Amino acid sequence: MDSLDSLDSLDSLGSKDTLRYEGRVAVVTGAGRGLGREYALLLAARGARVVVNDVGTGIDGRGASGSPAHAVAEEVRASGGHAIADVQDIATTAGARALTSAALEQWGRLDVLVNNAGISILRPLGELSDQDCSRVLDTHVGGTLNMLRAVWPHMAGSGYGRIVNTCSDALFGDTGLSVYAAGKGAVLGLTTSLAAEGAGLGIKVNAVVPIAATRMSLEALQGDEQMTAVLSDLFPARHAAAVVAFLAHESVPCTGELLHAAGRRVGRVFLGVTEGVVSEEDPTPESVSEHFPRIRRTEDFRTPHSVGASMAFSLARLGVGGAEPLALDLTTPAARQ
Ligand SMILES: NC(=O)c1ccc[n+]([C@@H]2O[C@H](COP(=O)([O-])OP(=O)(O)OC[C@H]3O[C@@H](n4cnc5c(N)ncnc54)[C@H](O)[C@@H]3O)[C@@H](O)[C@H]2O)c1
Repeated sequence: MDSLDSLDSLDSLGSKDTLRYEGRVAVVTGAGRGLGREYALLLAARGARVVVNDVGTGIDGRGASGSPAHAVAEEVRASGGHAIADVQDIATTAGARALTSAALEQWGRLDVLVNNAGISILRPLGELSDQDCSRVLDTHVGGTLNMLRAVWPHMAGSGYGRIVNTCSDALFGDTGLSVYAAGKGAVLGLTTSLAAEGAGLGIKVNAVVPIAATRMSLEALQGDEQMTAVLSDLFPARHAAAVVAFLAHESVPCTGELLHAAGRRVGRVFLGVTEGVVSEEDPTPESVSEHFPRIRRTEDFRTPHSVGASMAFSLARLGVGGAEPLALDLTTPAARQ
């Protein structure tokens, strides 16, 4: 085993407690329960001033209560940290703006955004109502986008920002997940695209892909006692908090990337393209069919970090140009005026 992979060496690296957040202000959405609560507690314990946002909904987005956000903010303060509660609904643009203003009014800055708030309605496609679809998309896509749009000008203005979005294993697909997975797919696109936009602004945008025992995941198991025990024992939400704190730190070395936070296992989730097959002749449906096994071979693959890098890879495989990423500006001209 490679020495860096050994648990001993990882433990000794982790025990130094060197990643600190003094001077930083963090907003964590959906921090009144589950994963968000653990993120808020860890960031605050390591010196960040934290806005604990939570509208206090049910798992399916129905209802509202101020109690979860206030309880977690109080928990932080009781242990000597700095936190305020915020009960805005981030699925609305007004709520996201008000939350951002609350952080700025309280502490005059905003350095970290953890886009964590989420709901879950897991049903087969044919059983989803219009309202189910809107509620899920408004929270995951709308909520994440609303918060990004609200904080972006402030982070760009200060030349610093660390953003952690939330994706899901639902991206890999399974039954009952369609609209929830669509929401998380949108968050993936926001993460990779805004990493590019943030590169010149001092803003890094990554995402966590958590697996943790929370009310949301436990309900999804529908009383499966064995899986409930496994999830509860091996995937406490505090483990994912370590990954989020790393991604929220000034020193984070990556942007546009997804980290899998699965209990004590941390990995990377990525989009890859296979080497593929280059034919001498123009492709036909028959040639695609003939080469299909080689086309989808994942033994050799690339992980382009931009459209320009993906384009350069295809060009190189077609025998045109080197593999250097192309510097593309795909902004529509009207937006530049
Ligand atoms: N638990 C898992 O295994 C898992 C797996 C993959 C992804 N996720 C994602 O992680 C995030 C946290 O989930 P969790 O498991 O801790 O769930 P949870 O239900 O315990 O907590 C989610 C919190 O978000 C809040 N919230 C929902 N909509 C909101 C809104 N519009 N404005 C403000 N707050 C809102 C809720 O009130 C709730 O307290 C979600 O985005 C979820 O999709 C969780």
